[in-house]
Amino acid sequence: MPEHHSAAAMVPPIGVVAPGAPLSPVSSDRHGALLSGFREVVRIGSATLVRADSMEVLEALEPGSIGAVLCDPPYSSGGLHAGERARAPSQKYQGSEHRHLYAEFAGDCRDQRSFLAWSAMWMARARHAVVPGGICAAFTDWRQLPISTDAIQVAGWTWRGIVPWDKTECVRPIVGRYRNQAEFLVWGTNGHRPLAGKVAPGAYRQAVPKTKLHMTAKPVELMERLLSIVDGPVLDPFMGSAPIGVACANLGLPYIGVEFSAHYFDVACRRLEAHHAQRAA
Ligand SMILES: C[S@@+](CC[C@H](N)C(=O)[O-])C[C@H]1O[C@@H](n2cnc3c(N)ncnc32)[C@H](O)[C@@H]1O
Repeated sequence: MPEHHSAAAMVPPIGVVAPGAPLSPVSSDRHGALLSGFREVVRIGSATLVRADSMEVLEALEPGSIGAVLCDPPYSSGGLHAGERARAPSQKYQGSEHRHLYAEFAGDCRDQRSFLAWSAMWMARARHAVVPGGICAAFTDWRQLPISTDAIQVAGWTWRGIVPWDKTECVRPIVGRYRNQAEFLVWGTNGHRPLAGKVAPGAYRQAVPKTKLHMTAKPVELMERLLSIVDGPVLDPFMGSAPIGVACANLGLPYIGVEFSAHYFDVACRRLEAHHAQRAA
């Protein structure tokens, strides 16, 4: 394992960039040596994929070496009470007809208090790695939305807003109720972000992919649209089947993806390899 930095030494002050100043340039090569200490590291084009607990990778990254964080953490959701949330992801997020289709994934069993503590921990470590003014954007659902907005602030990010992802009418209707048709991106910046660059929409309508490589797969197109205002390298501490990695490849952004599950790490590697080969052909 790589040597961990002391947390105190790594904390950059909040708001160190003067208004209007450009963000510091970052290079993906700065990560090569730091990440090579992990047992499974795969380079595919300008993507670096690491199989590890993201907490360890976040601690190993050089302060200010990441342009932005975009990710889809395990929500630890899918039930109103602690007992229901502790069930396997397939029991919570899949109808019985689909339960056999996808492998289970890691880290989806926290109660509210431990989800808040854990979210604040990874978000704080992510902030150390991100350039001043850089963006952190993490998906959540309606149940975890309040706690996710708490976590991003506890972690020292300047909370900037909530971006709804409208999954369209493909989402299952429930009679007598509003359809749970949206998920949400909670986002903040590492202190002041200069008012410069492109404008991005504040809400997105995009159907869930028809063919999925992960139980909670997100669409590549959505990720591409969300990445339109960020600089790389893009850090994705909860990679799953790597739609953010594919989006980064399409946009020419360096990408670092971390996945704990051996199964989904393999899925992500194969997907990015195939995508890389297809683009090279
Ligand atoms: C919600 S899923 C992401 C799915 C992804 N958006 C996709 O479209 O395939 C979260 C992923 O994070 C992984 N994970 C959970 N805890 C982790 C941790 N501590 N470190 C690294 N990966 C973790 C899970 O195994 C899971 O694959």
